[in-house]
Formats: sequence, structure tokens, C-alpha cells
Amino acid sequence: MSKPKIVVTRRWPEQIEKILTQKYDTQLNVDDVPMTVAEMQEAFRTADAVLPTVSDKVDAEVLSATPMKAKMIGSFGVGFNHIDLEAAKAAGLTVSNTPEVLTECTADLAMTLLLMVARRTGEGERHARNKEWTGWRPTHMMGSSVHHKTLGLIGMGRIARAVAARAAHGFAMEIIYHDPFPPRKEDIAGLNARQCNSPQEVFEQADFVSVHCPGGKETYHLIDATAFAAMKPSAFLINTARGDIVDEQALVVALQKGEIAGAGLDVYESEPRISEPLLGMENVVTLPHLGSATVETRLAMGMRVVENIDAFFAGKTPRDKLV
Ligand code: DGY
Repeated sequence: MSKPKIVVTRRWPEQIEKILTQKYDTQLNVDDVPMTVAEMQEAFRTADAVLPTVSDKVDAEVLSATPMKAKMIGSFGVGFNHIDLEAAKAAGLTVSNTPEVLTECTADLAMTLLLMVARRTGEGERHARNKEWTGWRPTHMMGSSVHHKTLGLIGMGRIARAVAARAAHGFAMEIIYHDPFPPRKEDIAGLNARQCNSPQEVFEQADFVSVHCPGGKETYHLIDATAFAAMKPSAFLINTARGDIVDEQALVVALQKGEIAGAGLDVYESEPRISEPLLGMENVVTLPHLGSATVETRLAMGMRVVENIDAFFAGKTPRDKLV
């Protein structure tokens, strides 16, 4: 029997590409250049499964490809707001993602950003490398303490809870959160986390607001000018979730007006473009969407896709089936 044909839209870790090539008739993207809409459509016309990443748009236009040959989308990443799930379902496609394996890694990065922006480490590093440092002095580059402050989580899913564990146990922080789908008691045991009735309550009380809800229509610009106005002038925003949950223009204005003290960002509204004013602000830390970027995690994400497509082609339900 011939092997199913799969199209991998970007470069994946070498070990995973090797495994895919052994198991499937695999088309790799060795140049790692993002595929155009026409190329994506061609992939859906010619392959049995398409393996996109979170930076590929798999929208209704791409999924209107005819005749549609593909039956499966095995996405590399936990977020799935880049895929039109309704259109995929209507086109008869099964869709999977890669949850769980990147939880700890992304939580590490959220804490990295929190510490960096509070303790001014990006600014400090630039200062030292630029040979501007003239020596220790009592008033030099004072930041904000992190320990014993209040961390406000928007969303209380797996990644938020992993951040809360680090913050509560490592930094003695008080944890507050809002999630329209609150976690089970046993999932937040030991965190001493207090549920707020609205995001607004979190914005008003937190010293650090960290975003952990999914992207998409429901959360688009959830953090807007009103949210910034509600936040303490000493508070920091941390976003490792999705860029468009935050109104980036409103963030720029809030920072310019001093409505909040700073921001640590890993994701942006129009990636890979970052709003120009943010790049010039010393109280903003900007990372290039590195949440899951460790060797171990990217391998685990790749293996999770392999597991999902193997199950699909064996006639079973993929473990991470979304639709
Ligand atoms: C995801 O998986 O959704 C992240 O944004 C990239 O790892």
C-alpha cells in the first residue's frame, strides 16, 4: 500500500522531519519560507494531510481549495486561532493540535518576561553592552520587586496554572485570576489562588497582569484602553498568549501616558511586525514568539503531531482532535 502524502509547511526539528519522511510520502519546506495562499491550497489539493504551524493562516480561503484531497490537519502548536475550524469541519477535515507538551516551557517564558520587565534587565543589558555603565550607585536602575506582589491571570488554563505555581511557590506572589470556565478545585490546589468575578477586577488589583486565554473572536482586544485605564500605574502587562488579545495601539498609548509601568511581550497583533513605538521604549521587553522555543519542547510538539497523524491514518481518533 502506498504511503499517505503529507505536506509540512515549515522547517521542523530535523529528527521529526526524519521520522515523518520514513513513515510518509513527505513534502518538506527546506527553504522555510512561509507558503502563499496558492501554495497552501495546492497542498490541500494534493496531500492526504497538511501539517501547518501557528504562523500559517488556514482560513476559509485556503480551505476552499477544490478538489480537496486532504482529510487531516496536524497542526504544530497548541493555539488554533490560525485555523478556521468550522470551514475545516465543513470540508470534512479532522484537525489536531499539540497541547500539554509546551505548558511548562511557556510558563518559564512568562516568568522570564515578568522578571525582565520588573527588574529592567533588557535595559540593563543594553546599558552594560553599550559601555554606558559608570559603576554601582544607590539610585541606579531601580526596578520593581516581584516577590509578594499580586499576579493577575487572565485565563486559568494549563499554562496560567503553571505560571501561578512558579509565582506562588518561587516568588511568594499572591495569585488572582479570571476565567469564564474556572478550573476544577483540584487543579488549583496549593496555589491559594483567588477567583475574580471579571477581568476588570483582575486589572484593578494586579501588580502584574499575565495573559493566558486563547486567541480568537471571543478574546479579540479583551485588553483595551479601558483595561489599561483600570490597571495600576505601577502595573506590568505580560503577554505570551496571542497578540490580538491586546489592543496594541491602546497599549502604546497607555505606556506613553504612564497608565501602566511596562510590558513584557512575546506575541503581537501583526506578527512578525512589532509596533514601532514599542521598540523604542526601555520599559518594554520584546521577544520574538519564543514561548515554546526549547529543543526539548519543539521535539515533543513534533512527536505529538506524529502521534496524531499516525492515529488518524490508522483509522483511530487522534488524541488531540479539535474537530
Ligand atoms: C502555540 O503553540 O500556540 C505557541 O504560540 C507556539 O508554540
